[in-house]
Amino acid sequence: MTEIDRTSGLPIDPDALRRSAAGVLRGNWEHGYTVPSRRLYPHQWSWDSAFIAIGWAQISPARGRQELHSLFASQWSDGRVPHIVFNPRVARDAYFPGPDFWRSRDVPEAPNRRAGGRETSGIVQPPVHAVAVWEVYAAAPALGRRFLRRMYPRLRAQHDYLVRERSAGNGLVVIVHPWESGQDNSPAWDAELAAVPLPDRPEGPLAGHRRHDLDHVNAAERPTGADYARYVAIAEAYRGHGYRDAAALPTHPFVVVDPLFNALLAWAEEALAHIADEIGEPSEPHRRRAAELRNALLEHCYDPGAGLFRALDRHGAPIPESTVSGLAPLLLDLPEDVVDGLVTAITGPHFGLNDRVPLPSYDLTGAAFDSTRYWRGPAWINTSWLVLRGLERHGRDADVATLRTAMLTAVRDQGFREYFDPNTGACRGVGDFSWSAALTLDLLTGQQAQPSRPLATARG
Ligand code: SER
Repeated sequence: MTEIDRTSGLPIDPDALRRSAAGVLRGNWEHGYTVPSRRLYPHQWSWDSAFIAIGWAQISPARGRQELHSLFASQWSDGRVPHIVFNPRVARDAYFPGPDFWRSRDVPEAPNRRAGGRETSGIVQPPVHAVAVWEVYAAAPALGRRFLRRMYPRLRAQHDYLVRERSAGNGLVVIVHPWESGQDNSPAWDAELAAVPLPDRPEGPLAGHRRHDLDHVNAAERPTGADYARYVAIAEAYRGHGYRDAAALPTHPFVVVDPLFNALLAWAEEALAHIADEIGEPSEPHRRRAAELRNALLEHCYDPGAGLFRALDRHGAPIPESTVSGLAPLLLDLPEDVVDGLVTAITGPHFGLNDRVPLPSYDLTGAAFDSTRYWRGPAWINTSWLVLRGLERHGRDADVATLRTAMLTAVRDQGFREYFDPNTGACRGVGDFSWSAALTLDLLTGQQAQPSRPLATARG
């Protein structure tokens, strides 16, 4: 059946969109996993793979399983899942920072190259993977529980690493690099980044490295040179401690609490509880941890005046920037007044829910708003999808329908782009971007109200 986009009156043909989304995933499939983009991101990225697996679940659950197996094959022995797993077939300098920058080969906890392990980065990304494992299984339970049994200890180790090594001391976990938030140049990180000292080097703050992202995308759509100089300095500081958190954190130049990262950890603990139930493991510890994280988010990050959750600086003080990250806790079970606050923020002038363009990454009225530059305003499919799942959980059906139309309209009119101008809907970043295609496949299936959406529909 052809749907009609509510604003333009033009048809959204679900079959045509599904075919082209599937074509993007198949085109980006690379020997067992999916690259986010052939041009800009030619390796395997951690949270990309989780979203991508959710898309594969709709067209080939076997590939969804392979995607996640492949990522977790490079999990470190301390439990961390690295944010990039490098493809040995790609030139070592095709992406910056590449394997020679991260030097995981020198770290005993990293995959052993001599035993066939891949080189990786040393930082992590938002831990949405247990949700992906559950959704891949739920899409094809007939394929068996072996997949869940194999992934369960790995997911537990991933979560335990974060809770053990990254404790903020208030029930939440910290991130140690803007790249770990997935929202690299979010205005929420500006004040923290400004305080990062830059090394004084004759070859410049990038230490002679060359950015490759600017070969593929207009510089106005990417983080600035000053941002990159600090990203490199922070990563070098962490690398200097062998990526050992206990040694690095006391003096580390960037330590913050990100609400999206913590909300996804809590949501993933709920998924882990479903997985545990399915394979006969105790699920109560996972439900308890999810509730503890949710309670800590409410206590330390919720700003009732703004109706959203704030990031916290290294001292635990709220950072007064309104970003899409602060809407992600909508994925969790929350008091009704908090849900109302979030929905007011989403539908009001700051995030401007409409049926033409997905949600902006940053407050449309904020001082640092930039409609073009990566995470400083542009609308992204993955964060919009997370908010959509949150709206679904809380039964806000009219807002779900509006956001879904916006997302489908954006990809129909502009293609599976990396991000979109939140005012005009114009495409930004690279094209044929895997998670934009993958989550479109999920949206097109979700509409049929399949029983495979337990995390979206479970209340309480
Ligand atoms: N998002 C980063 C980049 O743009 C990497 O994680 O390259």
